[in-house]
Amino acid sequence: EWKLPVSDLEKFNCYPEGAAVSEERCRLRGCLWEYTTVPDVPTCYYDTIPRYAASNIQYLPTGITTDLAHLGAPESARAAPASGSLSAAISFLQLSVIYHTENMLQFKIFDSTNKRYEVPVTLNTPPSPVGSPEDRLYDVRIQNNPFGIQIRRKSSSTVIWDSQLPGFTFNDMFLSISTRLPSQYIYGFGETEHTAFRRNINWTTWGMFARDEPPAYKKNSYGVHPYYMALEEDGSAHGVLLLNSNAMDVSFQPTPALTYRTTGGILDFYMVLGPTPELVTQQYTELIGRPAMTPYWALGFQLSRYGYQNDTEISQLYKAMMAAQIPYDVQHVDIDYMDRKLDFTLSPSFQNLGLLIEQMKNGSMRFILILDPAISGNETQYRPFTRGQDNNVFIKWPNSNDIVWGKVWPELPNVNVDTSLDHETQVKLYRAYVAFPDFLRNSTAAWWKMEIKELYANSEESEKSLKFDGLWLDMNEPSNFVDGSVRGCSDGILNDPPYMPYLESRDRGLSSKTLCMESEQVLPDGSRVRHYDVHSLYGWAQARPTYEAVQEVTGQRGVIITRSTFPSSGRWGGHWLGDNMAAWDQLRKSIIGMMEFSLFGIPYTGADICGFFGNAEYEMCVRWMQLGAFYPFSRNHNTIGTRRQDPVAWNSTFEMFSRKVLQTRYTLLPYLYTLMHKAHVEGSTVVRPLLHEFTNDNKTWDIDCQFMLGPALLISPVLESNTFETRAYFPRGRWYDYSTESGSVSTGEWKILGAPLDHINLHIRGGYILPWQEPAMNTHAR
Ligand code: GLC
Repeated sequence: EWKLPVSDLEKFNCYPEGAAVSEERCRLRGCLWEYTTVPDVPTCYYDTIPRYAASNIQYLPTGITTDLAHLGAPESARAAPASGSLSAAISFLQLSVIYHTENMLQFKIFDSTNKRYEVPVTLNTPPSPVGSPEDRLYDVRIQNNPFGIQIRRKSSSTVIWDSQLPGFTFNDMFLSISTRLPSQYIYGFGETEHTAFRRNINWTTWGMFARDEPPAYKKNSYGVHPYYMALEEDGSAHGVLLLNSNAMDVSFQPTPALTYRTTGGILDFYMVLGPTPELVTQQYTELIGRPAMTPYWALGFQLSRYGYQNDTEISQLYKAMMAAQIPYDVQHVDIDYMDRKLDFTLSPSFQNLGLLIEQMKNGSMRFILILDPAISGNETQYRPFTRGQDNNVFIKWPNSNDIVWGKVWPELPNVNVDTSLDHETQVKLYRAYVAFPDFLRNSTAAWWKMEIKELYANSEESEKSLKFDGLWLDMNEPSNFVDGSVRGCSDGILNDPPYMPYLESRDRGLSSKTLCMESEQVLPDGSRVRHYDVHSLYGWAQARPTYEAVQEVTGQRGVIITRSTFPSSGRWGGHWLGDNMAAWDQLRKSIIGMMEFSLFGIPYTGADICGFFGNAEYEMCVRWMQLGAFYPFSRNHNTIGTRRQDPVAWNSTFEMFSRKVLQTRYTLLPYLYTLMHKAHVEGSTVVRPLLHEFTNDNKTWDIDCQFMLGPALLISPVLESNTFETRAYFPRGRWYDYSTESGSVSTGEWKILGAPLDHINLHIRGGYILPWQEPAMNTHAR
């Protein structure tokens, strides 16, 4: 039979698991095979024969409903061995489209006969659709044969979603849907390190599954955000969320098109239509929940490190910062303060921490303490564990009362830790068995709050009370130093599903560096769920009770930062970008990371200033202090064993550079605080890509070496070594140099600006009034 050749751009990968593909296997799957010399173009691609038929399409005033029936496997696939089939197809599906508001709609494809797992994150949709049909920015058509959904922006007739493409699959453990994209301008999807803010769509794939993985190209890191923003050719913007928490990946191809592949749940999409990028973020945060309001002090400069020897070291650091007159508000304390890294305990070297906190707080300083989720089970008298057991808070094996034991930081009693040994050996010899609290349960939230309360006000030894102001949640992917559990995992299929997404751990299974996927968790309504489904919600579930606990025990607004996030985490916490390197490229990528978290509705964000791993180098650290002075979450932090990199660790010139730029930050804090408030009430961005303000100028669509804070402050940092000028873009308008106050009009031009080592280029946009203040040593002394 003769067929028209299929253009490469129209080929949708039918064998995404890669490695074992052969013509025979491809054909057994009912797909087409064609060799190609073009790199990355799939050789095995879907035929256009539909796999589901749509029927009973009902166009209602507030949405659409449609039945979908599986057409049965193609002749050849039916004969195929089960192993090639990516799990069983679901026969009857239903599509429900809901026109929630004029600018937001949902389209959901689910099993109409058997209820499947759905993400337990509540979104703010109106109880019944609002707005009149004429005011809707979109219209929706259902296409039959093959089945597809087409969403059009009415004003421009641009088709912004068009899933009438081959390959739509709804199997038990493999769901796949492709859509054409209206342009090549796509932003978002995380948490992964990106080399540009705009996504490279030239046959690239990105995995999403929460993982303790330092940011590096193509690797899936701590959080999961299956969300993108797209710019249409005319500059209109829309945002799309796939509310699904299973391990997944997304593939772009230059068609332009996008394919989602997920390993469970349902296909539940939400779309917001802006039409401006800033409105898209406002509408998206309205849907997922607006970000928490940060207290003023949390916008001050912060110091941290892993590896403080004792409380005296912190006290000396504080004194040195005061002596050098460098503004600073918050001191963090890492796991060093704990006894053998056990949560809610105090190390002998930090016996005076409570006192120090009290003294420093008299000087108007604030403290943030770290907490890790995993709780040691190897102690004899350790109430966090025994009370946890009493309240049944820990994750267990399915249908069993046995805890799924892992290993994280907590050490065994009575061991002499030799830190010169490699990580593996240390884990084996010294680490305790730990239990993981199941934060999805209400009982866990109550227990966790109780433990936090004890930490804040120790009911037996008041001198051990630590009067913190905020908490820092780490290792909540959850991270585990052994794969699955101390005795491995038993469910081969869940840990190594038929389709393994493009994840860092794909060769080692989903349980790599975390819990076994068969581990059982319990939702507030008592229903049991597999860790397989809710893994990426672990940090999300921990954030809310922690934030509430901080507020309850301190009686203040408080703040938390959390490593693993999911859509709506911003309601409770901020996020630092994780364990970066002390390297120039990471300085640059921190801007991209922050802009992405702006899109994700988590504005309180920043990277570890001067880098976490490796020794920071002087010039890089100066430039990083300058850029970091404009991070909403501005903290210098590094790991144990690396050299000091705080502002008073270098020389008086470094101190001067730091003082100067932090004084600028502190001068502008009323402006930053206003932006944080606007984010909280209106959902606008704080770290703002230029394209959000100058969408009509498409030169801004690719700018990610500069960024704005709100609508009026443009930051143009130096991001390379031995560079004393910077090339910066000035969109049309009047711009005032912050340091010289001289203004000039730009018609939309690139300029070369001088950037000596003591200087970061800041420009104020004409026509704006910025609230400001005289800087002081901290926000209280204002
Ligand atoms: C993790 C955190 C890091 C912290 C360290 C020790 O690597 O990401 O910030 O310093 O653990 O607690």
